[in-house]
Amino acid sequence: MTAQRMDVLYPRDRIAAEVDRLGQEISTDYAGDEVMLVAVLKGSFLFVADLIRAIEIPAKIDFVRLASYGSGTQTSGIIEFRKDLEMPIRDRNVIIVEDIVDSGFTLECLYNKLLLQNPKSLKICTLIDKRARREVDIEADYVGLTMDDGFIVGYGLDYDERYRDLPDIHVIEGAPA
Ligand code: IMP
Ligand code: MG
Repeated sequence: MTAQRMDVLYPRDRIAAEVDRLGQEISTDYAGDEVMLVAVLKGSFLFVADLIRAIEIPAKIDFVRLASYGSGTQTSGIIEFRKDLEMPIRDRNVIIVEDIVDSGFTLECLYNKLLLQNPKSLKICTLIDKRARREVDIEADYVGLTMDDGFIVGYGLDYDERYRDLPDIHVIEGAPA
């Protein structure tokens, strides 16, 4: 692979501030109640780890593993379920936790699947919203940061399984969008 230029787009302190804000919003909205976070692996693993600590009401967590990208940066539109929920979500306040919403195919697929299990409420929290790229009609209820286009890595996000470990979020210059 050719060398890619990577510039910091969101430094770690900016990310931390947005995650804290989201935690506060969720704590206020569900005050006196309990939430169940459903984190979408792998990309959201760092985000959800920080988010659950920023939420000040009781929070449970479960994970699903979905894959929409074979490799590279282009969505295939085909969503593969590689790991299902382990806990029942019936009558629970479920919040789907995503790293990034791009075309929206992944989220729409998961949202409709979870809705069939009759949660008490079902909302979506994403760290990053690539709104300009949306192809289906789905909106996140809690959004950390909004960006137009470009491919980003770090803080859990990968490019072909690389860079998930970077503490800041970088944009890859020259990556095919
Ligand atoms: P969607 O189904 O097109 O919305 O794709 C969402 C998924 O694609 C995300 O959960 C990420 O795993 C991945 N993805 C989309 N854009 C990026 C990006 O800029 N960097 C890393 N992964 C991305
Ligand atoms: Mg993801």
